[in-house]
Amino acid sequence: MVQNIDWNKLTFHYTEPDYVVRAACKDGKWEEPYATTDKTITLHVAATGLQYGQQVFEGLKAFRGADGRVRIFRMTENAHRMIHSAQGLMMTPPPADLFCRAVRLALTKNIDFLPPYETGATLYFRPVLIATTPEIAVTPGKDCELIVIPSPIGAYFPGKFHCTPFIVERHIDRAAPFGTGIWKVGGNYGSSFRATETAHAQGFDCMFTDAKTHKYIDECSAANFIGIKQLTGSDGKQVIEYLTPRSTAILPSITNDSLMTLAREMGMKVTRRHIRVEELADMQEAAACGTACVISPIGRIYDPDKSKTYSFGEKPGPVMTRLFNALQDIQYGRAEDRHGWTEIIEL
Ligand SMILES: Cc1ncc(COP(=O)(O)O)c(C=O)c1O
Repeated sequence: MVQNIDWNKLTFHYTEPDYVVRAACKDGKWEEPYATTDKTITLHVAATGLQYGQQVFEGLKAFRGADGRVRIFRMTENAHRMIHSAQGLMMTPPPADLFCRAVRLALTKNIDFLPPYETGATLYFRPVLIATTPEIAVTPGKDCELIVIPSPIGAYFPGKFHCTPFIVERHIDRAAPFGTGIWKVGGNYGSSFRATETAHAQGFDCMFTDAKTHKYIDECSAANFIGIKQLTGSDGKQVIEYLTPRSTAILPSITNDSLMTLAREMGMKVTRRHIRVEELADMQEAAACGTACVISPIGRIYDPDKSKTYSFGEKPGPVMTRLFNALQDIQYGRAEDRHGWTEIIEL
């Protein structure tokens, strides 16, 4: 019940909305998404989504803006990423326009769950695609169901924008090179729990390294990595470099893509390449980025195998702060959306 929600107490945990939105695909034909209050599904016991992990998902947000208008951020990008993820697992992808209609319907049917602007809380959508075809043979099922689950979530930084510590992981891999890491496959997250829970127990978040050599930075838990380096150009001028890993095992973050665009516009040099863990020593700022946090600045990174700590200061640095504010200003309608990243939903 929306009346019972204290927007300021919300965290990134599930809060039950009134409606979820569903659409099934049978024999290649998608039905039109519909809203239902039923939060359970009836799934055949032999569904390939259960047997073989044919399941992919997405994550995106709607914001109530400073001007009172409601915006969804880069929904079409999420639709396309779900299509790639589904293709990766040989599932039937939902057309992008059907995905977007489902998310819009989930928003309008649950509009009372969209938190007020002042709270910094948002309405998060978790679209899930699961293969429903009954099968015992190890073959992909083609029938599937798309379910959009909305949940209001709290401001990621309710007090103030702050730093978190990370620990370098070389003994448990999240995803293999050329494996499923580039897709948002549920199994990638289940397989990362052992590492992330071990890190949490020691007071850290987990920084995954590449599964082949364990020399390069892959991802920061369920977020991309960004490092900031101050460089001196050939003309003696100072240049800020925005560094982010190139890897065949990491999810192409829509937040990272947006931040790279903003960084270029701010005059930074944006570089995507393999980043050795030791290079952290040359960076002035580091952060994780993703839909949930936008930017989560990193205070220090501990490398237990080398008994070394890389420190970036206890407070978020100026570059991360500027990037964070620039993207949030677009999401909350405080700055002009020159890239057409937000869709305004007329209610
Ligand atoms: C593994 C992983 N990397 C990166 C991201 C960040 O992606 P995005 O910015 O699209 O939320 C996410 C979250 O979706 C993720 O799960």
